[in-house]
Amino acid sequence: MNSAPVETAHALRQTWRPDSWRDRPAAQQPHWPDQDSLDRVIETLGGLPPLVFAGEARQLQNKLAEAAAGQAFVLQAGDCAESFDQMTADSIRDKLKVILQMAVVLAFSAGVPTVKIGRIAGQFAKPRSSSTEVVDNVELPSFRGHMVNDISFSERSRTADAERLVRAYHQSASTLNLLRAFTKGGYADLRQVHLWNQEFIAASPEGRRYERVADGIEAALRFMAACGISTDAPEMHQVDFYTSHEALVLDYEQALTRQDSITGQWYDCSAHMLWIGERTRQLDGAHVEFMRGVQNPLGCKLGPTATPAEALELCEVLNPDRIPGRLTLISRMGADKVSEALPPLLAAVRDAGHPVVWECDPMHGNTYTTAGGRKTRHFEDVMAEIDRYFTAHAEAGTWPGGIHAEITGDDVTECVGGAEAISDDDLERRYETMCDPRLNGPQSLELAFRLAERLSS
Ligand code: PEP
Ligand code: CO
Repeated sequence: MNSAPVETAHALRQTWRPDSWRDRPAAQQPHWPDQDSLDRVIETLGGLPPLVFAGEARQLQNKLAEAAAGQAFVLQAGDCAESFDQMTADSIRDKLKVILQMAVVLAFSAGVPTVKIGRIAGQFAKPRSSSTEVVDNVELPSFRGHMVNDISFSERSRTADAERLVRAYHQSASTLNLLRAFTKGGYADLRQVHLWNQEFIAASPEGRRYERVADGIEAALRFMAACGISTDAPEMHQVDFYTSHEALVLDYEQALTRQDSITGQWYDCSAHMLWIGERTRQLDGAHVEFMRGVQNPLGCKLGPTATPAEALELCEVLNPDRIPGRLTLISRMGADKVSEALPPLLAAVRDAGHPVVWECDPMHGNTYTTAGGRKTRHFEDVMAEIDRYFTAHAEAGTWPGGIHAEITGDDVTECVGGAEAISDDDLERRYETMCDPRLNGPQSLELAFRLAERLSS
């Protein structure tokens, strides 16, 4: 084999196509046993309409540019993994309610504009630390999210089924349809702030604290009306809410990648924002290759092993033109590591002048298993990571940009601690997540209040 001249090799490396990721090692991909079925599914998905539009992704990027400049705060939140089985209008609405509540607390108590992004309408694929799981001496493929296989432990349900990709598309479409209706059709009207407080949340100390915020907003609206200030602005009645998920299963993401008719650029139309996970951020890997070519705003997780050099290379590859809002770096270090691991990354990115948004994911570095065998997180560990993350930014003179959290609007007991002091024993009551433990409604609100305090201090 002839070796290509260095310049040619370099030029080849620069050529991006929606399928150029196929020349790179792709971590965490399902093993699809039926190639014909996968091919058919990819063709079907390629012919279906985009779920989001390029113009919406650009609008989100502009808002993220404000967060990169220290003028807005990003709230990115939702399930660890969405489920095909629990997709009801109520559960989507309740998740949206909690996110709206958190955003209101941040905007009202800390006075910062909040960019709202759900981990929703597409968050169906999970990276796994082991590709198989052993139960009672039986070894089967790990559960990889409903886009790939099912969680029940049998050979049949754990076999990757490409038809699930089409189902993920359709469920994303109906979820998005409902979200658009709720956020644009009057439900997210600021005059409804009290209605977002579900009963079980309203009964908690944080729910009562929220009621006081809602009263304050109502009073402010009445005051504005009495002064003759119009409250007709669309911002009063509608909310801009964006979708995001981890771009993990690249066959699916490629099938939804389309060329924008206005700019001629490529967008992954499966969500407004996509992120690269901690396990798939290899610089020469398929995920980085795919994501560098789509123009959506991107996220990239950075765990405690990330070096300043890696962070800078990711910035160069994913955002070579240094477009503000294009790249969000999501720190997920763990409460015990963040103070040591984050400052060198902040300094390197700051000194290189990359206009990134920094987000703190205080969930994924703080997971542990209880004596009873439940995967959980302690609310105080989550808060400690956030606190130290803010301190690191204050010391670096950078803006702490946003928060990336796993939450639900359902009345679950999955994370311990919080104002309701959920204990290890309580985890047995309503532990419903398919993957990682989520903050419940009161815990999510408590997080928002504590964040607001930190932001305004
Ligand atoms: C996640 O966000 O659900 C996830 C798997 O995170 P990470 O890639 O940071 O482990
Ligand atoms: Co998770």
